[in-house]
Amino acid sequence: MILLFVCMALFCMGLTTYRFMKSEEDCTSGRRLIDSSVLIMTTAVSLSFFSYLRPLHGLSFTPVFRQIQQATRYVIKAWHPPNMLYVTDGGVQDCTAITQLLQRRCEVIMLVLAASDPTDDLAVLRTTMEAVQNKLKLASFYDLQDPRRNVFAMLDDYKQNSSAHSFKMGIRYGWNEVETPSFGTLWVVKNRLPDDFLNQTVQPHLREEEIMYNTPSPKSWNGCSGDSSASEDNEVLEELLDMQTEDLGGLGCCDCCHRWGNCGRKFPHLTFTGGLAELVD
Ligand SMILES: *[C@@H]1O[C@H](CO)[C@@H](O)[C@H](O)[C@H]1NC(C)=O
Ligand SMILES: *[C@@H]1O[C@H](CO)[C@@H](O)[C@H](O)[C@H]1NC(C)=O
Repeated sequence: MILLFVCMALFCMGLTTYRFMKSEEDCTSGRRLIDSSVLIMTTAVSLSFFSYLRPLHGLSFTPVFRQIQQATRYVIKAWHPPNMLYVTDGGVQDCTAITQLLQRRCEVIMLVLAASDPTDDLAVLRTTMEAVQNKLKLASFYDLQDPRRNVFAMLDDYKQNSSAHSFKMGIRYGWNEVETPSFGTLWVVKNRLPDDFLNQTVQPHLREEEIMYNTPSPKSWNGCSGDSSASEDNEVLEELLDMQTEDLGGLGCCDCCHRWGNCGRKFPHLTFTGGLAELVD
């Protein structure tokens, strides 16, 4: 940053001297200032491509240089991790992240699919499966019950059968006949409310003890204030017990958002903010 600032200062000084020159000497020194600022800048930009060298580490953190490196699609391939990593959304290629597991030829893969997909089209999974089969040629998927059937027909079945909780498909690793095949199973669980979960009253939050030790815990709810009194808790409880799971909506992260701001799409296909907040909750 300081380097950029110095360069800009030199450049501006040079330009001013050059533009409002009073003598020939001004002209030459103005030119020299501009030249040196351009030279420093070019050197710094060029050196930033070698920022994996220890003395040049600092250059990889300059925002302007980062933009230039991104624009030129510059990536470092090395044994040692670089100073800076760009983390992007997996949605660019594979939202499900199963490709890496398929590359490792995992025998059992469990995919929890929580993409925003209220109509169960499974577009994200279809895209990944197509990429794995057609582009990467890593593996083939097949219907475990009838391998002659197109595997995508299974996905259509799942969409139509609203009582299905999950589905599984076979994986055959290896593409060419020279590769030794191996087999695996992909289990898919999606955020949907199956038929037998309809008309359920809202349940209290799961507690750590319940998950860890399977011990039932007293019903409790998160009020907005966090330290709400017992009578207030009971009030929340009664109001929420009148609701059904599929009525829960809202944009917020605590139970009172369901009581007073119960708008937007409903569980389990909440809006982005609601879904995020539920995760944090
Ligand atoms: C729907 O899914 C359920 C649960 O997996 C299964 O028992 C049922 O046979 C399926 N229905 C049809 C029509 O395939
Ligand atoms: C849920 O309730 C509705 C009416 O409120 C009823 O039509 C439906 O059959 C019920 N579903 C189940 C699975 O009990």
